[in-house]
Amino acid sequence: MKKFLKAASLILVIAMLASVLAGCGSSKQSGLEKVKSSGKLVIATSPDFPPFEELKSDGSVEGIEIDILNIICDKLGVELQIEQMDFDSVLPGVQAGKFDVGVSGISVTEQRQKNALFTDPYCLAAQAIVVVEGSEIASKADLEGKSVSVQTGTTAESFCMENGYDVKSFSANSDAESAVVTGKVDAWVIDDLTAAEMVAAYNAENSTKLVVLSEPMTTEPYAFAFTLGNDELVNEVNTILNELVADGTIAGIFEKFDAPYTSPDAA
Ligand code: ARG
Repeated sequence: MKKFLKAASLILVIAMLASVLAGCGSSKQSGLEKVKSSGKLVIATSPDFPPFEELKSDGSVEGIEIDILNIICDKLGVELQIEQMDFDSVLPGVQAGKFDVGVSGISVTEQRQKNALFTDPYCLAAQAIVVVEGSEIASKADLEGKSVSVQTGTTAESFCMENGYDVKSFSANSDAESAVVTGKVDAWVIDDLTAAEMVAAYNAENSTKLVVLSEPMTTEPYAFAFTLGNDELVNEVNTILNELVADGTIAGIFEKFDAPYTSPDAA
């Protein structure tokens, strides 16, 4: 009887182990396994943010971050799939697990880290002020009591709200730009490299000129945002990303897009 009980309990233990192992394999794939078995990495992006991501007239999306993600995908051995949306849908979509990663010039903040798993930063940026040439606003101090346009859901929006400016938010960056051009607001607050790029494009085609003030108002590391819990995938991406920072590949991509590069270590 004792022998029988021993054998029976052994069988029971083996059966339990087998079912646990089977469960691991089928129902709950890790993010890394999912990406590798599907053969694609799905990115969420708001392509209104040159030189990081910009929608071209042929419908393609180009930019610094698209180049970086293409290299990462090559190294992971998967295809890059781009899903376009407004900026304020990027992080909620990633949080809900609808996309693998948010790629949108996303600044890492403590608040956002509660809802997404960020890679290591690959560069630093800052908020800049854009005004119409001849404006009486010449520095951050002059913004007090003034109206500013920003893109909805951005760090520009939260920064301007915290500073008590009269904030007008727009889903599209181009509309935030138009607001300052048409005098609906006194200034436009946006990340420095995108400010430089959009202002240069605007000035090349218009007689009224926009000016980017030289005073950087914040320091913001950019990184890519994954769904929480995807640690294995993010670790693998971090290894690739840190190598691209260290061997100068990222600096080279910035150069290709004529953008000054600030290393994340400069913080
Ligand atoms: N860096 C800012 C942020 O994280 C702005 C990003 C806007 N990105 C875009 N693709 N429009 O909030």
